[in-house]
Amino acid sequence: MGNMVKLAAVTRRYSGVLALDGVSVEIADREFVAVTGPSGCGKSTLLNILGGLDRPDSGEVFVDGIALHAAGDDALTDYRRRRLGIVFQFFNLLPAMSVVENVELPLLFAGVPRRQMRARALAALDLVGLAARADHLPHQLSGGEMQRAAVARALVHEPALLLADEPTGNLDTANADRLMKVLAKIASQSLTTMVVVTHSEAVAALASRRIHMLDGKISHG
Ligand SMILES: Nc1ncnc2c1ncn2[C@@H]1O[C@H](COP(=O)(O)OP(=O)(O)OP(=O)(O)O)[C@@H](O)[C@H]1O
Ligand SMILES: [Mg+2]
Repeated sequence: MGNMVKLAAVTRRYSGVLALDGVSVEIADREFVAVTGPSGCGKSTLLNILGGLDRPDSGEVFVDGIALHAAGDDALTDYRRRRLGIVFQFFNLLPAMSVVENVELPLLFAGVPRRQMRARALAALDLVGLAARADHLPHQLSGGEMQRAAVARALVHEPALLLADEPTGNLDTANADRLMKVLAKIASQSLTTMVVVTHSEAVAALASRRIHMLDGKISHG
């Protein structure tokens, strides 16, 4: 088994604020890592850099063997489309498309043949317990269902790396519990490496490893 993620001395500065201060970390294939730490410590900045949504000012970032710090815009777009799944705190489903059409989007971007798309999207919805909601519009779902649909969309193209930023942050306890069961199932049944930022002790406890951050640095993990 190799390392899905390798960061070496990564620094990111925002107009005077050192959001990441020389972060070095390795995450093995298929690990499920929880990133914890107080507000403002750099968790989302770390996730954005892993997701190719932001670039470090210095240091090196490798994901699945790709040097993200040196990649051009086209290579980063290709990386995001083919190897990455992202779940944000606020669901980000497209309101005019049905649930199953939302889940098909990553397959469309990855160039999967149309005739395979529906079956794969329905299988991903089944994994998160939402097969019966496939034809609903997002506004017809509860918050917890929307977030599980967002997880199905992030996973449908079988990404090498799944990133989630506070996926239970907007959910009540019952829905957070249900989403956690989905994350645990993904960790045990799929090949995807998972990095989940969370303030929830219960979510962090699901992970195989915890990385704690403080003031832009990894304090332990
Ligand atoms: N676009 C930006 N412009 C300026 N400063 C930023 C920007 N993004 C983040 N920062 C600053 O960088 C630091 C780290 O921010 P980051 O969003 O990574 O924190 P976080 O750990 O995700 O916090 P939270 O738990 O509140 O989401 C903070 O001090 C923040 O104010
Ligand atoms: Mg954040």
